[in-house]
Amino acid sequence: MLCVDEIFRCPVTGRPLQRRGDVYVSEGETRRYRVVDGIAELLPDDNDPTTPSETINFYDAFGWEQDGDGTFKETIVHNGSNHAQLEHTSHCITRLAKYFDKGGDYIVDVGSGPIAHPELLSYGRNFEKRICIDLSITGLRKAKQKLGDRGIYIRGDVTKLPLMNGSVDAVTCNHLIYQLPAQLQMRAFLELWRILKPGGVAVIVYRWQYSGIESRLEKLASRFARNKQTLLSENQREQIPTPGTDEPQSRKWFEEQHWPFEYSYDCYRLVDNEFMGRYVSDDWRGRLFLNTLLSMQYFLPSQCGRYGVFPAIIVRKPVLN
Ligand SMILES: C[S@@+](CC[C@H](N)C(=O)[O-])C[C@H]1O[C@@H](n2cnc3c(N)ncnc32)[C@H](O)[C@@H]1O
Repeated sequence: MLCVDEIFRCPVTGRPLQRRGDVYVSEGETRRYRVVDGIAELLPDDNDPTTPSETINFYDAFGWEQDGDGTFKETIVHNGSNHAQLEHTSHCITRLAKYFDKGGDYIVDVGSGPIAHPELLSYGRNFEKRICIDLSITGLRKAKQKLGDRGIYIRGDVTKLPLMNGSVDAVTCNHLIYQLPAQLQMRAFLELWRILKPGGVAVIVYRWQYSGIESRLEKLASRFARNKQTLLSENQREQIPTPGTDEPQSRKWFEEQHWPFEYSYDCYRLVDNEFMGRYVSDDWRGRLFLNTLLSMQYFLPSQCGRYGVFPAIIVRKPVLN
């Protein structure tokens, strides 16, 4: 197993880094990166921002803060307290854990936040270490509280990952790339590919700009919608900060790019939180409806990935001969 200092690289020059106490120094001594409280600050230049600062401020100052019973405010905004909806999201996360069964030395969680859902922890079960990378310091501190020595923590940017080519066995990247400005999304996909070892797998949860499935499901869903619980009132919503504007691209856009990798589709979830908030009641009807969707994901994973809202894009790097 390569030691962690051997897989770090300078996010600007791509050259190896050397650790000297609480600082990483790039080859040629041109750049220095601090390690503060066990979190390596391997950020590219400040004058080259990628994610809008309001998105990171949202996570640092609001989304990754917790309420009295430990629920992240981001989860409350999206799911309210609808248990049927929360259980469905848990099932959807757990369903994708099979891609990480093979295990290995390192799994990287890019845009990890605080590892907000406990089910996400299962992705790292067969790996020696989980490398959490995020721009949000609040998210990383909370991930560190959860994983302790089983994790490695980097404040870094998905479009300039501070990791060597072919250095990790697996990548999980959920709900991050569609939050980036459109012109940077291709670069982010390529970065995830670059850091994978031959034989490695990346599972990337994306959001399509348009999914016809919700309009088709509306009629069926409205039959199940009894006692549905509205998430938050308009008034409450206005007082809550938002994470900026997402820029999901279409499936056509994705399929027209000249990727250096082959990929297949699975499905993270067929419908989004707004749809569930509108139609899914927190009772047996809501559960029956969501379980029907989950069965579709089990039986027709790639079709659900193509036509649903949130595909899981599965990228495998071929083993070298
Ligand atoms: C929607 S949250 C998803 C968190 C987690 N992956 C999950 O599924 O629960 C997006 C996360 O990506 C992080 N993020 C946004 N832009 C980023 C970037 N350019 N590089 C690394 N992380 C970024 C945010 O700080 C936030 O923690």
